[in-house]
Amino acid sequence: MEKSKYIWFDGNFVDWDSAQVNVMTHTLHYGTGVFEGIRARNTDQGVSIFRLDDHVDRLYASADSYHLKIPFEKNEIIEAIKEVVKINELDSAYIRPLIFFGEGEMGLLPNNVPVRVSIAAWYWGAYLGDDAVNRGVNVCISKWRRISPTSFIPLAKGVGGYMNSTLAKIDAVENGYDDAIMLGDDGTVAEGSGQNIFIVKEGNIYTPPNTTGALNGITRRTVIEISKNNNIPIDEKNLTVDDLKTADEVFFTGTATGVIGVVSIDGGNIADGQVGNVTSQIIDSYEDVVNAKDDNFKSYITLI
Ligand SMILES: Cc1ncc(COP(=O)(O)O)c(C=O)c1O
Repeated sequence: MEKSKYIWFDGNFVDWDSAQVNVMTHTLHYGTGVFEGIRARNTDQGVSIFRLDDHVDRLYASADSYHLKIPFEKNEIIEAIKEVVKINELDSAYIRPLIFFGEGEMGLLPNNVPVRVSIAAWYWGAYLGDDAVNRGVNVCISKWRRISPTSFIPLAKGVGGYMNSTLAKIDAVENGYDDAIMLGDDGTVAEGSGQNIFIVKEGNIYTPPNTTGALNGITRRTVIEISKNNNIPIDEKNLTVDDLKTADEVFFTGTATGVIGVVSIDGGNIADGQVGNVTSQIIDSYEDVVNAKDDNFKSYITLI
């Protein structure tokens, strides 16, 4: 990780190495936190944060779902996110706001426990590697099912829930894959370990609905809009593993990942094992959108 100089912590900037917590921090014991992943990019118009309001809205929604009352107003968090990029003089950044229960009473009921907020920003390149966008990624169907909506709140980015994603990711990498696809409760496809998933079949794009346990990804939402703008039919639909393996194209989406072709599953190629044409078209459009080159999406750009 490329450390930056400062982290915003409970309202103030502190040196990166001073942004520390006590081992009795509630969230360290019980996973009781929520977070966001946001990107800033160096565009022709200046440094831009993509869909900042939407990310902050999801952060508040996640916090609400898990009973964390954020002790700052939304506009204060928005300003802090912009400031953390500026003060660290980053022109390209991954931004990680984290809301967590600090040190107070121990026990599952987080009474008399302060809610703490940190926002870090640092340079983080392509999550699945620099060449993934050209060569695509090789993935497996995970033996781990995506957290169930009957046990967790998959629509929220909850810290504890990510133990599930970590299990899937470690297992995939140990078996020689780049990443994993996780199935939901009913055995249909949910998403990747940290990405949403789409298939292309006979010119149509499909993605599983959020009822499968898939996160309501902001890149997912952007890709749905891009497809509609590009007149590519797109629909939400439950997908089987067979639908994936017999698709013309498969791709992942996510803030850290971007849009990346999935070229093989469980060792079997998807079509000819290359990143497909529709995926390439979506990648190009997505790059234009996030780099402030598409006026149709300029409301998603926050210049700082
Ligand atoms: C489990 C999971 N699914 C999907 C995504 C993609 O969501 P987004 O596009 O909002 O980054 C992420 C990344 O945040 C994730 O962690």
